[in-house]
Amino acid sequence: MKERSLTGKPQWKALEEHLAWMAPRHLRELFADDPERGARMAAQGAGLYLDYSKNRVNGETLDLLFALARARGLEERREAMFAGARINVTEDRPTLHVALRMPAGSKLVVDGEDVVADVHAVLERMAAFCNRVRSGQWTGHTGKPIRNIINIGIGGSDLGPVMAYEALRFYSQRELSFHFVSNVDGTDFTEATRGLDPAETLFIVCSKTFTTLETLTNAHAARAWCMQSLGDEAAVAKHFVAVSTNAEGVEAFGIDTANMFGFWDWVGGRYSMDSAIGLSTMLAIGPERFHEMLAGFQAMDEHFRLAPMERNLPVLMGLLGIWNNNFLGANTVAVLPYSQYLSRFPAYLQQLTMESNGKHVTADGSRVDYQTAPVYWGEPGTNGQHSFYQLIHQGTRLVPCDFIGFCHPLNPLPLQAEAGADTVAGDQHDLLIANLLAQGESLAFGKTPAQVEAEGTADALQAHRVFDGNRPSNTILADRLTPHALGSLVALYEHSVFVQGTLWNIDSFDQWGVELGKQLATPLAEELKAKDAPALTHDSSTNTLIQRYRAVRGR
Ligand code: F6P
Repeated sequence: MKERSLTGKPQWKALEEHLAWMAPRHLRELFADDPERGARMAAQGAGLYLDYSKNRVNGETLDLLFALARARGLEERREAMFAGARINVTEDRPTLHVALRMPAGSKLVVDGEDVVADVHAVLERMAAFCNRVRSGQWTGHTGKPIRNIINIGIGGSDLGPVMAYEALRFYSQRELSFHFVSNVDGTDFTEATRGLDPAETLFIVCSKTFTTLETLTNAHAARAWCMQSLGDEAAVAKHFVAVSTNAEGVEAFGIDTANMFGFWDWVGGRYSMDSAIGLSTMLAIGPERFHEMLAGFQAMDEHFRLAPMERNLPVLMGLLGIWNNNFLGANTVAVLPYSQYLSRFPAYLQQLTMESNGKHVTADGSRVDYQTAPVYWGEPGTNGQHSFYQLIHQGTRLVPCDFIGFCHPLNPLPLQAEAGADTVAGDQHDLLIANLLAQGESLAFGKTPAQVEAEGTADALQAHRVFDGNRPSNTILADRLTPHALGSLVALYEHSVFVQGTLWNIDSFDQWGVELGKQLATPLAEELKAKDAPALTHDSSTNTLIQRYRAVRGR
């Protein structure tokens, strides 16, 4: 028997009834009614502090959300994931990214295999390799040490590596330069390799399946680029390593499997940055710091597994997202890191959240009658303030925001003294964090018509200067952007995606939605080439576009 739809559950109905009470309430009122709200509606775990008080909820909202989560079996499903059950039902696989960060010596047996031992065996090989490259012991074909690392991959085989490299660049070995090639647009490869000496360049070909068109195309371009300069097939062994689950594919490409770092089908692409897919990260920051990052992931895993719902960061974030999305009608989330190092974090989260939960059927294939994943997007904070924040503050849509900040700067700069002043208190970082706090405050509380009038604003301008407020946000603070903090932060979002996927009863670990475009692209590429190809049988729009392309290219 099919279970009753999510929206038919009594716990859902109770939330709908509660919404009727909550919808007209303003955050001004909620804060005025409870002077301790800011301190009370906060939770900590794995080195992160989450202030969720600026959401349009009260204690009752949260209790009703917890009840819904329990009714959906969140706790049991969480246990099932950690135990290695095959919760990725459409691909009939366990989902075990949490095993990637379990400490050495712990054990998790899946299908008769201790996956933790396997994970650590690969981590040790990665560390040995990284130490050789970082120390200059690993040399290229002509004997020169490696100075440039180019990661070739796409999706989870690119976004995690590039995000982590940018995030942890502060800790990176500066003599090595890092580049990331993902787009099948030849420009990506050309610009990444411009000015580099192939004799000093190492390519990491990252692909879980080792069948992905973009990655294999770029890997072939890389081999041709190397061969043109080094002129010897034997050079491949010194300039190419692979990260994949597909040893046959790696061999077929011509990379010796001795230079391959493996992982397993139970690691989803978008959950793989802490597997061997993170080889570029380990090359940049070294094995020790990579292990610090894994410890951060693991700390959040343990927090998610053990903390009561009321203090559980991923549970709170996931459920608040459901409230904003399914009850308050927000169809988007802005992720706003107040850290330049996290510039690629929103892009990373886009795959994590939208490839995971952008689904229109439940795990058993029934069509959902509720919204699933919202659209995630964002930019580093202060830059966004001078761009799209206008819409967040005064537009017609509700855009819940996640503000992310760090208390200590990694690059402290003094504020420049004003003319005539001889001391300057604080540093540039205070300004950055002041901006973060000011945004959350103004989104929540806005500016009333009375306040605008009291400021002496001309009548004609008053309506333009009113801020309704009542716009929800989370604020996530960590002490400092360390590898540990990054691991905790990523795991926080991974598990909050899991919480939401569980409530929506969707398979957060498959990605069938990317297949159709892929299937159509290969024959289309042939049709673009050939003037005398058989008659075009696409729709009239696609046919006309193909003809136009051919005409412009003189084909
Ligand atoms: O976009 C679909 C996808 O399968 C992602 O899930 C994955 O991260 C990406 O392609 C790359 O896949 P692969 O690592 O197998 O090349």
